Amino acid sequence: MSDLKIGILISGRGSNMASIIEACERGEISAQVACVISNKADAKGLEFAKAHNIPAIVIPHKNYEDRQSFEEVIDKVLTEHNVQLVCLAGFMRLLTAWFTERWTDRIVNIHPSLLPSFKGTKTHKEALEYGAKITGCTVHFLRAEMDHGPIIVQKAVPILEGDTEETLGQRVLQEEHKAYVEALKMIADNRVNIIDERVFITQAL
Ligand code: GRF
Repeated sequence: MSDLKIGILISGRGSNMASIIEACERGEISAQVACVISNKADAKGLEFAKAHNIPAIVIPHKNYEDRQSFEEVIDKVLTEHNVQLVCLAGFMRLLTAWFTERWTDRIVNIHPSLLPSFKGTKTHKEALEYGAKITGCTVHFLRAEMDHGPIIVQKAVPILEGDTEETLGQRVLQEEHKAYVEALKMIADNRVNIIDERVFITQAL
């Protein structure tokens, strides 16, 4: 069976994207990153993708009058690159139901908290303000509702006294890199099953 073809959507730094690309190159994930798409021309991750000979395509959302026309172009590029699984990795645009339903069960997101806690973009600030003692990260299939969908992998990170958004964010990010690779490895190995909106993992042989 040929390797799973992954398309990664980014908006910035791309450290999750980089760890996915490296894990595919090492053969840890039986997949190939077929293309990287950014809605921002200055996204740092684009350089990394190009340096690894992966097509890195900019589709500026500002060029489109509504979300769906922007997403139609993304969809076209993904299809042209024979993408089978879409990975959101710091992609800072909300996707409409048109897109999420088109790619249902074939689109994965990473969020820097233990969902369903602390959805949105201020997760570390909110976890600190709430006084939570444990946070973490979640890799999940994406549904139309933001930061929601069947959970594939979660990793816990203790919140330490004296943590700032930056120190906590750094420790969570290290776990994100591991969690995303773990989830994609299982998907590529066909071990991830969604039943009634919950994920069940087939044990490795
Ligand atoms: C990560 O914390 C991810 O969970 C969130 O956005 C951040 C992206 O970081 N969705 P990077 O671009 O992968 O370095």
